[in-house]
Amino acid sequence: MSTPSRITESPQVDDEFAIPAPLSGHGPARIIAMCNQKGGVGKTTTTVNLGAALAEYGRRVLLVDFDPQGALSAGLGVATNDVDTIYDLMLGRVKDTAAVIQHTASENLDVLPANIDLSAAEVQLVNEVAREQTLQRVLRSVTGLYDVVLIDCQPSLGLLTVNALTAAHGVMIPLECEYFALRGVALLIETVEKIKDRLNPALQLDGILGTMFDPRTLHSREVLDRVREAFGEKVFDTVIRRTVKFPDATVAAEPITTFASEHAGAAAYRRLARELVARGGAP
Ligand SMILES: Nc1ncnc2c1ncn2[C@@H]1O[C@H](COP(=O)(O)OP(=O)(O)O)[C@@H](O)[C@H]1O
Ligand SMILES: [Mg+2]
Repeated sequence: MSTPSRITESPQVDDEFAIPAPLSGHGPARIIAMCNQKGGVGKTTTTVNLGAALAEYGRRVLLVDFDPQGALSAGLGVATNDVDTIYDLMLGRVKDTAAVIQHTASENLDVLPANIDLSAAEVQLVNEVAREQTLQRVLRSVTGLYDVVLIDCQPSLGLLTVNALTAAHGVMIPLECEYFALRGVALLIETVEKIKDRLNPALQLDGILGTMFDPRTLHSREVLDRVREAFGEKVFDTVIRRTVKFPDATVAAEPITTFASEHAGAAAYRRLARELVARGGAP
C-alpha cells in the first residue's frame, strides 16, 4: 500500500513550540520559583537564561536573586555592594521595592539583587508575624510592572525557600541528569504540597527540567528516562545539554542568549521559554 506523497511548503516540525504572540499590555506577573535544595543543578543558569529568552520574546521579566551567594546578580553584572538588596526589603529597612530593582544590559530584563547579607535573614525573620509571606509583600508593589517574575532560590528548603514558594504561582524544578538526581526530589515535592496545603493553595508544579544532559553517556539518558517515568508530562520536553558555554557566559556576566546567541544552549533556553508559554506557565 502506498500513500500519495505530499508536498508541504513549510514542513511543520512536531516538537516545536510556537513563537509567543506579542502582548497587548504588561502585568500582572506570573511568579515562578526555581527550586531544588541540591546545589549546582542549574537553578541560577535557568533563571538567567529562561528570563533572558522570555525578555527576547517581549516579556517584561524580573529576576529575584534569593540566594545569599548572589550568583544570579553576579552572572548579570549587577552591583551588589553598596546598594540596597532584597535583604533590606525583606527586613523592612527599605520600603520601595521598585527603587531596589536594577536594569541589566538586556532589554526587558531586571534584577532584584542579593548578597551575603541575605544569609542572616532566615534567623532575623523567625520572630516576624507572617514571616512566610515576607517576599510576597515585598513583590506586591512591582508585579504589575512585569509579565514574569523568576525567583532564584538558594539550595535549601529553609524559610527563604518557603517564602519563595508562598509568593509564587508556580514552581520549576531543574534536575541534573546525573546519578542521584532524584534523591531529594520526593522531599521537595512534599514541601511544595505542604506549602500548597497551608500557605498557598494556588501553587502549581510548572514542570521539571532536565539539565546538564550529555547525550553521549548512557547514564544521562537513563536518568532522563527515569525522571520521565516518575513524573510523566510534568517533565519539560526541552532538555538542557551540558556545555561549557554556560559557565563561560556567567564569567562574561551575560545570558547565553546574548553571549553566544547562535549557540545550541541559547536555542535550548529559547525553546524552554516557548514551551513554558505553550503550557500556560507564562503569558
Ligand atoms: N547545562 C549546563 N552545562 C554545563 N554547565 C552548566 C550547565 N548549567 C549550569 N552549569 C554550570 O554549573 C554550575 C552550577 O550551575 P548553577 O546554575 O549555578 O546551579 P545552582 O544555581 O542550582 O546551584 C555553574 O558553574 C554553571 O555555570
Ligand atoms: Mg544558584
